Amino acid sequence: KSVLILNGPNLNLLGQREPEKYGTSTLHDVEQLCRETAAKHDLSVTCLQSNHEGELIEALHQAGKALLKGDMLGVVFNAGAYTHTSVALADAIKGANVPVVEVHISNVHQRESFRHHSFLTPVSEGVIAGFGITSYVLAIEGW
Ligand code: DQA
Repeated sequence: KSVLILNGPNLNLLGQREPEKYGTSTLHDVEQLCRETAAKHDLSVTCLQSNHEGELIEALHQAGKALLKGDMLGVVFNAGAYTHTSVALADAIKGANVPVVEVHISNVHQRESFRHHSFLTPVSEGVIAGFGITSYVLAIEGW
């Protein structure tokens, strides 16, 4: 069974982007860590990053199809800033009927108030935030 590691806007810049908030690991490092973690639990991962809301929606739809086929457990999703803005992503999660664990590298509740609200939380199985890139590990281990 596989888990989709889905990363949204600006997460391709990990490593160089505000390292005091997001650390110095790159997206490649994060994806490698996810593969290693999944392997320990006899899972495989597919990794996808996009800066485009529509592509993230398509990926959720595809995950929903894979779920129906029995190939997929769910999605570990860091939607970046779309977390706080996107009704469309929340609708896609609901519509595709795909289990999602919402992940954030930083503790969004410690930051600006506009980061405190998430459109994804009400349609997610769980939320992990604030553990740096270990947030992804904890999300995979949650399956
Ligand atoms: C983030 C938190 C979001 O508020 C921000 O827009 C991001 C990254 C995180 O992983 O901490 O892009 O999702």
